[in-house]
Amino acid sequence: MRILFVGDVVGSLGRDMVEEYLPRLKRKYAPGLTIVNGENAASGKGITEKIYRAFLQAGANVVTLGNHAWDKREIFDFIDDAKNLVRPANFPEGTPGKGITYVTYNQYEVAVINLQGRTFMAPLDCPFKKIDELIAQAKQRTPIIFIDFHAETTSEKQAIGWYVDGRVSAVVGTHTHVQTADNRILPQGTAYISDVGMTGPYDGILGMEREAVMKRFLTSLPVRFEVPKEGRTQLSGVIIDLDEKTGQAKKIDRILINDDHPFFE
Ligand SMILES: [Fe+2]
Ligand SMILES: [Fe+2]
Repeated sequence: MRILFVGDVVGSLGRDMVEEYLPRLKRKYAPGLTIVNGENAASGKGITEKIYRAFLQAGANVVTLGNHAWDKREIFDFIDDAKNLVRPANFPEGTPGKGITYVTYNQYEVAVINLQGRTFMAPLDCPFKKIDELIAQAKQRTPIIFIDFHAETTSEKQAIGWYVDGRVSAVVGTHTHVQTADNRILPQGTAYISDVGMTGPYDGILGMEREAVMKRFLTSLPVRFEVPKEGRTQLSGVIIDLDEKTGQAKKIDRILINDDHPFFE
């Protein structure tokens, strides 16, 4: 089985990239399952129901989130009914939505988990303890387990990767918006990358207008960040091949599409 994952989609330029390239990537790679991180999809912060549905329409099977999950208030109106939408699983008990969902491709079920780190981020429940719990739960149904680990530090991301090696099919990092070149298969068969990177503005800073970000660094004053509405764009993703009987990953390749890395059909 092949899984395509697209990293943090930022704003309208990011959504345009998904619309344009998801069909082309699906033609090229023929993934059985496509997962998109949409935490920044609505003007850089959060997601709306309309955007969630547009991702499914464009070919995504599951949409994952992160620390920006709650930035658009309407999330509370639809998250409980959005079957293929997951938010970080280690939010406290009683938080709306869910952190794990199951999707089926051919006769194979895949567990898709969203989890958030705690280092330099909000103090959520322990992601290590939470992942043990979720793996135990998912293993009752399927050996194919995919984790989007949304975290700030590469150390916490590597720690989760090694912690679950051999117990899940893949751990892909999101949140830092810059693709890392450390994609690998860990010794016990888990595909790993510290960060998949972002999808959207190519000439901003982490997807935001760069002038505002530079101003904050130069002045230390509060500055409002906006997402550029025009300009060059990029898409970041990974493609993972795994053995659907054992859930073990065989291969993880990076996808990066921008003016410096053109896409070939
Ligand atoms: Fe993000
Ligand atoms: Fe994030």
